[in-house]
Amino acid sequence: MHADVLRAINVQINSEFSAWYQYLAMAAFCDREKFTGAARWLKSQSAEEYQHGMKLFDFVNARNGAVELTRIETPTREFESFGEVFEAALRQEESVTSQINSLYELCFKNKAFAEMTELQWFLTEQVEEEKTAREIVAKFRLVGDDPGSLLDLDRELGSRTQP
Ligand SMILES: [Fe+2]
Ligand SMILES: [Fe+2]
Repeated sequence: MHADVLRAINVQINSEFSAWYQYLAMAAFCDREKFTGAARWLKSQSAEEYQHGMKLFDFVNARNGAVELTRIETPTREFESFGEVFEAALRQEESVTSQINSLYELCFKNKAFAEMTELQWFLTEQVEEEKTAREIVAKFRLVGDDPGSLLDLDRELGSRTQP
């Protein structure tokens, strides 16, 4: 593997595991506040991020590169509202999208064709993840702090099927 590409993919592995940990912290917050449907949704999302990290982990090994795991920062654990949890989730997904875009560009410049193919899956996945997060954020903005509507939203989030 091209050295710069390998280094950048290792950074992305850290980002995916950081997302895993951040969603888990969000789930802990919602569980603690008994917003259990949202907690369930966030745990599923967390598990997906773990899978993303492992997908790149396995890819690097398949390409005979060295996986270098690094420190994961302490996630944000407190939020002002349930809506703010999902606003933060959307910001996180948008930032991951721009990281994947930069990584793809780096692979393109270095003619790292196998890596580009692998990353296409992530480009598609980010479109979906941003769309989902944006829809949830829109609903939170719509319901504001109406307790009945928030409980309905919690129920809806809880119906997400496990990945
Ligand atoms: Fe991800
Ligand atoms: Fe994500």
